[in-house]
Amino acid sequence: MAVSRTAEMALPLLLTMVISLTMVESKFDDVIQPSWANDHVIYDGDLLMLKLDNSSGSGFASKSKYLYGKASAEIKLVPGDSAGTVTAFYMSSEGDNHNEFDFEFLGNRTGEPYLVQTNLYINGVGNREQRMDLWFDPTTDFHSYSVLWNPQQVVFLVDDTPIRVYSNQESTKGIAFPHDRPMAVYSSIWNADDWATEGGRVKTDWSHAPFVSTYREVKIDGCEWVDGVDWESEVKRCSESQWGKEGRYWWKEKEMMMLNVHQSHQLLWARSKHMIYDYCNDPARFPVQPAECAH
Ligand SMILES: *[C@@H]1O[C@H](CO)[C@@H](O)[C@H](O)[C@H]1NC(C)=O
Ligand SMILES: *[C@@H]1O[C@H](CO)[C@@H](O)[C@H](O)[C@H]1NC(C)=O
Repeated sequence: MAVSRTAEMALPLLLTMVISLTMVESKFDDVIQPSWANDHVIYDGDLLMLKLDNSSGSGFASKSKYLYGKASAEIKLVPGDSAGTVTAFYMSSEGDNHNEFDFEFLGNRTGEPYLVQTNLYINGVGNREQRMDLWFDPTTDFHSYSVLWNPQQVVFLVDDTPIRVYSNQESTKGIAFPHDRPMAVYSSIWNADDWATEGGRVKTDWSHAPFVSTYREVKIDGCEWVDGVDWESEVKRCSESQWGKEGRYWWKEKEMMMLNVHQSHQLLWARSKHMIYDYCNDPARFPVQPAECAH
């Protein structure tokens, strides 16, 4: 009698455990989900892989949207011949006149350097490309790539070294800054051999497919947007609060609003040593330097 009572009570518990075990597919599930070509999104233990072959690229997206925060991914890029491929890690809002912050990793032939292109779209307008090479080989190990976004700045970081800052000059110079639309976080891999490598001259060599970028971590700390609630009050909550259900909003504390001295030095170093192209210094394209470029 006592035994069967115990068994009766244990069964639902056991079922719950089995169900939750089968549902926990990977540690990535809390934050992101496959969003393009699910059969090319591969979970392997603690790793996630995005695959590109001649049938498709692939991608994932965050489950939530955020207004301010920091999104990071630890990525090992396609090794060997990656020419023609692009792996992107980015944040984007939805709808017209969208905002977007991009990392695009432009592949190359075996042994030739990857380039990292960054760009920002603000109210639907992009054309803010910068390109850098890296101070390491991004295909042999995992490195972290992050975007920090708060009311004062958007910062692109590589292994916590800032490589680009877009600061809020709205009140001083009337330059648009993204501050009232939530953004989701995305990553994808696709064929871009019409432009990615040496301006499109080097094509993807499909005999080297599949091309795989590998993720060890995707981490998002931010103010999670609640859909269906009054827009203005959500903007207010995420902009003005210091604390919420996600914890302390550390990404918009005072010391996150601008680079510290050490970070400013890192930024100068990275840009002087590794910048390949900067739209701010391209008079053929912009005879008048874009306003946000003057500091
Ligand atoms: C795609 O790749 C597969 C495997 O390498 C190959 O068998 C197939 O013919 C390719 N398809 C096209 C359209 O090139
Ligand atoms: C690829 O390698 C070539 C030769 O080193 C270099 O000029 C180019 O900038 C590299 N990156 C891309 C994306 O083309």
